[in-house]
Amino acid sequence: MKKTFEDSSKLPKDFEWSSTEIQQFQKDFLMWYQQEKRNLPWRINTDPYRVWISEIMLQQTRVDTVIDYYYRFMEKFPTIQALAEADQAELLKTWEGLGYYSRARNLQSAAQQIMAEFAGEMPQTAAEIVTLKGIGPYTTGAIASIAFNLPEPAIDGNVMRVVSRLFCLSEDISKPSSRKVFDEKMRLIISYEAPGDFNQALMDLGSAICTPKKPDCQSCPIQKYCRAYATQQQENFPVKSKKIKPKDVFLVAGIIENQAGEYLLAQRPAEGLIANMWTFPMIEVSQEFFKELQEKWQGPKANDKQLTLDLVAEESPAIFSNLPVVWQKRHFSEVTHVYSHLKWHVLPFYGRALKNFPMQGNEMWVNQEAFPDFVFPKVQHKLIESWKKS
Ligand code: ADE
Repeated sequence: MKKTFEDSSKLPKDFEWSSTEIQQFQKDFLMWYQQEKRNLPWRINTDPYRVWISEIMLQQTRVDTVIDYYYRFMEKFPTIQALAEADQAELLKTWEGLGYYSRARNLQSAAQQIMAEFAGEMPQTAAEIVTLKGIGPYTTGAIASIAFNLPEPAIDGNVMRVVSRLFCLSEDISKPSSRKVFDEKMRLIISYEAPGDFNQALMDLGSAICTPKKPDCQSCPIQKYCRAYATQQQENFPVKSKKIKPKDVFLVAGIIENQAGEYLLAQRPAEGLIANMWTFPMIEVSQEFFKELQEKWQGPKANDKQLTLDLVAEESPAIFSNLPVVWQKRHFSEVTHVYSHLKWHVLPFYGRALKNFPMQGNEMWVNQEAFPDFVFPKVQHKLIESWKKS
């Protein structure tokens, strides 16, 4: 038996729409999508691998940014097998600049899992898809609906905003427990004929029309179904509790050059934030010490041409004071970068290494021309910028 809500008796008693209204709503919405859908590279076909890669890239990243990365990624790793067997450094290099690098690592683990457990074929049910590394309920719903035509909701922030307005749902969208409410509503309204298009219509509507501020209700294809519009409460939905402020982390970075004109790079540990990527060596310090360094070593003002290089002494600028380095007695401007729950504040100092510099196992001297061969996180690019500017 086809599972739809054509029969009103199957709808929950308190649901606000009749089955006829649901069908009309789906028709209006899907027609709008057919006419207005964005021409995006992952919409050329519904190949599950292509859908999966696009959905992972689109998490936390804007469509405009993703497009070029998507083309490059598909060219380098055109199949699940190619991704499973890829060199991790090459994979991260392809991802460089997109951020949230665990996404790339998880993609590869999941590809290896598909090779080992699913004979190299993308699994075709929501229950199996969700077992893959890095794939949560949202991505499961997106892959299941777009690639396999299953009526699974794909609920992200955009979709929650649209649905909360449509029904004036006052559940706090920052709370994981609210998900269930949105999931239940979505299962009542999703199209069984074209669930992938339906989900993507919601995504497009959320990003172009049903925006967080000043939604363009006059252009909305489902305006007549929207309870928030009818009661002029669009901006009161969704209900969202305040974001928790990211925790501040204070670091000092050494931009250390040797006599051959090479720079010291350190590889990050294999686990944790920006794992395995390369940066100038950094040390975490207390906020007090950071502020002290910041004030004491402001150094010459911008119009002072003469920058002094002073030999390391007790008053060496940084905590790297035990190193045989001649430090410049000033820092460059503070570099900041937010990693979801952490805010890094990095104070960069330049120094020249003396002979017999004791290197750590994770460090390397690298010529500037070879920088493009290394995978740098955003914060490293910012440090290089800050140093070049000064
Ligand atoms: N955001 C997340 N998934 C998307 C998709 N398939 N199309 C457009 N925007 C998206």
